[in-house]
Amino acid sequence: MVISGGIAAYKIPDLVRTLVRAGLVVRCVMTRSAAQFVTPLALQTVSGHPVRADLFDASEEGAIDHIALADWADLVLVAPATASLLARMSHGLADELAGTLLLATRAPVLAAPAMNVNMWRHPATQENVERLRRRGVRFIGPETGALACGWEGEGRLADPAVIAAEVELLLAPKRLAGEVVVVTAGGTREPIDPVRVVANRSSGKMGTAVAAEAARRGARVVLISGPTALAAPAGVHRVLVETASEMRAAVQAELGACTIFVAAAAVSDFRPLAPAADKIKKDSIGEASRMVLELERTPDILAEVGEASAREGGGRLVVGFAAETRDLLAAARRKLEQKRCHLIVANDVTREGSGFDVDTNVVSFVGPGGEVEELSMRSKREVAERLLDRIEKLRGERS
Ligand SMILES: Cc1cc2nc3c(=O)[nH]c(=O)nc-3n(C[C@H](O)[C@H](O)[C@H](O)COP(=O)(O)O)c2cc1C
Repeated sequence: MVISGGIAAYKIPDLVRTLVRAGLVVRCVMTRSAAQFVTPLALQTVSGHPVRADLFDASEEGAIDHIALADWADLVLVAPATASLLARMSHGLADELAGTLLLATRAPVLAAPAMNVNMWRHPATQENVERLRRRGVRFIGPETGALACGWEGEGRLADPAVIAAEVELLLAPKRLAGEVVVVTAGGTREPIDPVRVVANRSSGKMGTAVAAEAARRGARVVLISGPTALAAPAGVHRVLVETASEMRAAVQAELGACTIFVAAAAVSDFRPLAPAADKIKKDSIGEASRMVLELERTPDILAEVGEASAREGGGRLVVGFAAETRDLLAAARRKLEQKRCHLIVANDVTREGSGFDVDTNVVSFVGPGGEVEELSMRSKREVAERLLDRIEKLRGERS
């Protein structure tokens, strides 16, 4: 990656650590100005590789020459990208190591600009960015907010976690290219009155992790999510809904093109039969200390998709989740059959580190013949990776 001389360079060691933790090999090249904001030693320590800064340093050039470095990279990330470096890139200047490497590389380039809002808005910078975009350079950010220079506005470096997610998205093998994956996530909320809802404990973390992983593998992904505090993953089109009916309508709207459907949402099975138009007052139940809320069934979205997919015979893969508190595998096998799914991800939500609102999950995959693969406790991201490996395998077997 190329680090240029902006104040946001102090955030880069953290970004490098995130990338290294994700299993990537990172080699850092600094502009001369960058060393004013972050030390080569910090970058060398977190990347685990010598840092290059000087095109004409015989020992650096002897260790790995600038063309070999340009050829070695699968992706060149420029972060932060200063106004000055963007100008040099746009004009193809190779007067120092960073510019030379950026001209020599045939790898995709992702730039994360960061600068004062007026520098960013200046027509010179905007024309440079436009020209670089036309040449295929990708941009992430800048974001809007309080800037180190005291101004407010566009110019903040994109969040390092968001940059890291974009890098992973660009680098992952695109084994699901051509697939359209629709994922449901989170819980739905069914109104009792304008201020109260029937809800559940789902956070949306599992479905969001599946959507993020599918996007990394090159699928076009639509994530239909109930209310959630999570950000939409990189490369995913997210549709936010509130109720089971809204989720059903959103699924129906996307189903035509969908080749893989993953139902990870905890859709409320019941909803109040007659939501009140106004807030129900405490004293509306008179002297009685209790009130009865009449509930009705909500639409069964997974069963509808399973049924439609079987009827159409178009080869859409349908994957359901079964969150249970007892008789997990029997319930999962029943669900597989009744809802005409190809795979069920079963989890016992009573187990520690499993189910709602935690970052880990303990699941079993119940396959087309009812066969079971149990996974030990792992992060929801790892569960998503294993699930998509399984989906790819099923895809391969069916085609
Ligand atoms: C304190 C300070 C902070 C700076 N921050 C930025 C910045 O965030 N973005 C930017 O484009 N330039 C910034 N500059 C200006 C660049 O350091 C300057 O244009 C430099 O020549 C960039 O060199 P480089 O592009 O080779 O790294 C800053 C300068 C100073 C003195």
